[in-house]
Amino acid sequence: MTSIVVLDFGSQFTRLITRRLRELRVYSVILPSSSSLAEIMAQQPAAVILSGGPKSVYDLDAPQLPQGLLESDLPILAICYGMQLIAQAFHGEVKAGTVREYGKSVLSNFSGTLFSGIAGDFVAWMSHGDSVKALPEGFKLTASTSDTPIAAMEDAKRKIYCIQFHPEVNHTPKGIHVLENFLLALGIAMDWTPEHIVESLSRDIKTQVGNERVLLGISGGVDSSTLGLLLNRAIGKQLFAVFVDHGLLRLNERDEVEKALTGLGVNLIVVDASKRFLSALEGVSDPEEKRKIIGREFIEVFYGEAAKLQEKQGEIKFLAQGTLYPDVIESAGGHGTANIKSHHNVGGLPKDLKFELLEPFRTLFKDEVREIASELGMPKHLRDRHPFPGPGLAIRCIGTVTKERLDVLRRVDDIFISALREFDLYSETAQALAVLTPIRSVGVMGDGRTYANTVALRAVSSQDYMTADWSRLPHEFLATVSNRIVNSIPEVNRVVYDITSKPPGTIEWE
Ligand code: XMP
Repeated sequence: MTSIVVLDFGSQFTRLITRRLRELRVYSVILPSSSSLAEIMAQQPAAVILSGGPKSVYDLDAPQLPQGLLESDLPILAICYGMQLIAQAFHGEVKAGTVREYGKSVLSNFSGTLFSGIAGDFVAWMSHGDSVKALPEGFKLTASTSDTPIAAMEDAKRKIYCIQFHPEVNHTPKGIHVLENFLLALGIAMDWTPEHIVESLSRDIKTQVGNERVLLGISGGVDSSTLGLLLNRAIGKQLFAVFVDHGLLRLNERDEVEKALTGLGVNLIVVDASKRFLSALEGVSDPEEKRKIIGREFIEVFYGEAAKLQEKQGEIKFLAQGTLYPDVIESAGGHGTANIKSHHNVGGLPKDLKFELLEPFRTLFKDEVREIASELGMPKHLRDRHPFPGPGLAIRCIGTVTKERLDVLRRVDDIFISALREFDLYSETAQALAVLTPIRSVGVMGDGRTYANTVALRAVSSQDYMTADWSRLPHEFLATVSNRIVNSIPEVNRVVYDITSKPPGTIEWE
């Protein structure tokens, strides 16, 4: 499979370069700029992209090009700081900037490989201090702006292309064409399709696993379910997928997930542990305490099941996890925008159970997981579900958690979520949920007075779940949902809609 190595010189946009390449169906990985040529070559790259970065090439600790990179004959796209490094390396002149040029500029006289076929105005996002003052030998000027006479240059013979602006950000609307032109000029195959991803991951899994067995925890969410389907495709009956039903799931959720996975052949063991979880949660109303109890019980049930399996089936060598690429970049100390806040409900492994980790999604972004979910046959409504917290409805039942309260909440949630789907509003929101509050209030129903629960509905729009805004759902829609809830659930007589953004609120109430 074709790959492109993005060398990270510290730009906050590095990760976006990889995102854009993946959108263009080319596989790419980020490596630190301190990587050796051997480490770069190990990725079998068809080309290298040098990212931007916050340093000046004149700083004492300015990061340098990897030794031997320019002699390797690998085609290069150099962005911002990368361009200045290239200019320096080929004896051009780099002017140290005293102020940073930051913001939108318009390119003039653009031409050459990267701009082929691009018509009209070209708005380019700039963020740099230094700039190239004199072209290095062999390079041709390919674009200017009013502030930066050398805004792009290329040496087509050596296949080195340089741009001062950032093609990867949305503020450069035609930037994606620049990246595409780079790929096209080099004849790079755009073969990172869901079909190929599945094929290539399956091959890697088979090689790593051999004849061994693999354990996987299914939470019902998209990542673990997709991983179940992928592992099933790759190693079939060597997979043991364990789905712990903690009794805190949504209406029919366990059945739906079970049907989808077993229907596609996954070797799934469903453990009904709801009684155990409920009794451990009895009388507990502190949210952090709830989380701790659920985490602890989960580990006990899951690894208890693993131990039983080991006894019956022999050794299980691997534990599969749905770690995604953003987690990998993050933990490697990479840069870029924040990803989904992860609340780890599952602590460390018990000492007497030793597994090797299998993390087939380490190279994937979340939306790529969704794409391969379809490829693997997951029904669309499961694939496109909103995130759902590990501790489930326990943190949406404010106060104590009982089977009766959970049942009320499950019905409310189902009415709300089904209506969002019915009115085509589900995919307009990033997450929607219902909360059962401990408030009871007076109402009238027919001729009688009621004294029943208040539920809150919440729907938010969000990119990364770190910040969120409340969804402006149509009033008519909210009215319909409110009527349906109060008319069909006698335990509820009041519905409120949460109009708090995050911050200061959080998405969940607990
Ligand atoms: P908050 O409430 O912090 O939620 O704004 C941000 C995102 O994280 C989810 N969330 C959790 N996920 N375990 C999880 O697996 C948890 O304890 C937990 N708490 C919040 C929340 O649903 C939202 O998507």
